Amino acid sequence: MLSRNFSLSKHNTFGLDVMAAYFMAITDTRDLKKLRNDRIFIEEKRMILGGGSNCLFLDDYYEGLVILIENKGINIVSEDNDTVHISAAAGEDWTFFVEKMVNAGYGGVENLSRIPGKVGAAPMQNIGAYGVELKDVFYSLQAFDLNTGELVNFDCNDCEFGYRTSVFKTIYKDRFVILSVDFVLQKNPLLKLEYGAIKQKLEDLGVHKPNIKDVSRAVTHIRESKLPDPKILGNAGSFFKNPVIHNLVFDDLKKEFPDAVGFSNNHNTTKVAAGWLIEKAGWKGCRKGDAGVHKNQALVLVNYGKATGREIYSLAMEIQQSVKEKFGILLEPEVNVF
Ligand code: EPU
Repeated sequence: MLSRNFSLSKHNTFGLDVMAAYFMAITDTRDLKKLRNDRIFIEEKRMILGGGSNCLFLDDYYEGLVILIENKGINIVSEDNDTVHISAAAGEDWTFFVEKMVNAGYGGVENLSRIPGKVGAAPMQNIGAYGVELKDVFYSLQAFDLNTGELVNFDCNDCEFGYRTSVFKTIYKDRFVILSVDFVLQKNPLLKLEYGAIKQKLEDLGVHKPNIKDVSRAVTHIRESKLPDPKILGNAGSFFKNPVIHNLVFDDLKKEFPDAVGFSNNHNTTKVAAGWLIEKAGWKGCRKGDAGVHKNQALVLVNYGKATGREIYSLAMEIQQSVKEKFGILLEPEVNVF
């Protein structure tokens, strides 16, 4: 049912008190087909919302239509001795999905434990953490084309996955509603433990021969120690992407700041830790009104209670400016701003 003046405060992890002029929760393709013929759909601007864990609303009123994806279902499509092909509905909670896979012994998504959001939003920005990205376990997805009303299948190449991006964030922004995502997971998984903190955490937990449950537990511990829980403190994870710069530029940065943190990205480029840049520019733990920079992870902006989207955004822009002045590096937001 299409609602008017619908509160989105429970549908954005910054916990902003935002109202949508029009709102509709979708559970299947029929809902979308019907909605396409509605006057509101035709006349109003629109946005597609998953878990609201990567978005920042600037104003307290969204003058348009918000389409929320709420379909459910996680099924095995096929399996053999080594792999299992799983299909998950876009409206499933990502953490619920990961836990289900980990408990079933299907490996591949354990490093992506506890990322807030829905399954459908995962390919949108190619979510990633602790050395794994969604594209590593992705098989295909099914999406509804709002322009034509048709169902379209996308494979890995079609999605053009990049660092926190895909075609759904660029050329096809707001055009496709992702309905389900198919994954290929492993029954005898090779664990990915290269990301330093995981090995350390497993040691701390006294685990010497880890399995996927142990890795999931280690990742959960690391996340809990660094990243604020949006249910307690509003936030959208990393606010900016880690900037990718030429190795020579990074070498110069290292000369001036020997403690600069960067990870080799490919032959020519380095991904610099934006958290380090922001901390070094003096922002870690800063607070302006109810908008702030998290005390344990400078890449995360938080809402202490009554911050507005504009206050958080203006803090982000101040940080961007100050990092640019100090290091000559431009930070690009990772969150979607509406
Ligand atoms: N660092 C600092 N100060 C800080 C924060 C970080 O100096 O305040 C330095 C530390 O040296 C640390 C390094 O930066 O070792 C990297 O920090 P961290 O491991 O926390 O990862 P990140 O690069 O800040 C990225 C993702 C996170 C993901 C983690 C773990 C992006 C934009 N962010 O953060 O993803 O959980 O790696 O893999 O790529 C998200 O996308 O919302 C998100 C939380």
